[in-house]
Amino acid sequence: MLRKMTSPRPLDLPKDLVRYNGQITRRDRNILNQHASGVLWFTGFSAAGKSTIAHGIEKKLFNRGIRSYVLDGDNVRHGINSDLGFSRQDRKENIRRIVEISRLFVDAGFIVLASFISPFKEDRDFVRSCFSRDNFYEVYVKCSIQECERRDPKGMYEKARRGIIKNYTGISAPYEEPEFPDLVIDTEKLNIEDSIQLILNFMDRVKMLSLISSV
Ligand code: ADX
Repeated sequence: MLRKMTSPRPLDLPKDLVRYNGQITRRDRNILNQHASGVLWFTGFSAAGKSTIAHGIEKKLFNRGIRSYVLDGDNVRHGINSDLGFSRQDRKENIRRIVEISRLFVDAGFIVLASFISPFKEDRDFVRSCFSRDNFYEVYVKCSIQECERRDPKGMYEKARRGIIKNYTGISAPYEEPEFPDLVIDTEKLNIEDSIQLILNFMDRVKMLSLISSV
């Protein structure tokens, strides 16, 4: 006889789950790496330069023997977040999952370079609340919508203007400017190299690239 298919019972947290604590801590990994782990969260319009800058920093850090990893909207949305679109709810879920992935990377000893439009203050406040003060920094990659639209490297703004893409940030969906970012990088005034250098200087200043902040 065929048994009726039922959906799996959702876990009754936390009763059904107990956390397993490994023997190696984040601190141990930081000591092994000789640097802190944490998150630089890049927010700004599409085409502002977030991912270009994040990948540039990743390369510089790699050459200095510092473990970092870029998470960006375009890549993550091809994989783990491929089931998500750009509604308010989906953007929120996009960010929630990135936070969880970032937490794992930070625990694993990495510096996460997270590059997401993350247009809503509420979501960015949530992100900040998930990390401690000394290992999370918000970088506002500032560029006017006019300039982003002029750059339009992927032709997305044109499609958004023509209504082919709906709900496009800056055109048909809002972007709430960060009020208190830790760092502002204005890519209409700075070139990519200078932007990267400013951020590296910032990381040095807040001791992200040394061991001190994590021990
Ligand atoms: S977020 O708003 O949810 O933070 P995310 O950074 O993950 O956005 O993804 C942005 C990328 O998706 C951009 O490279 C952009 O070109 C592409 N994209 C496709 N549709 C949209 C849309 N409606 N709004 C914004 N970006 C979009």
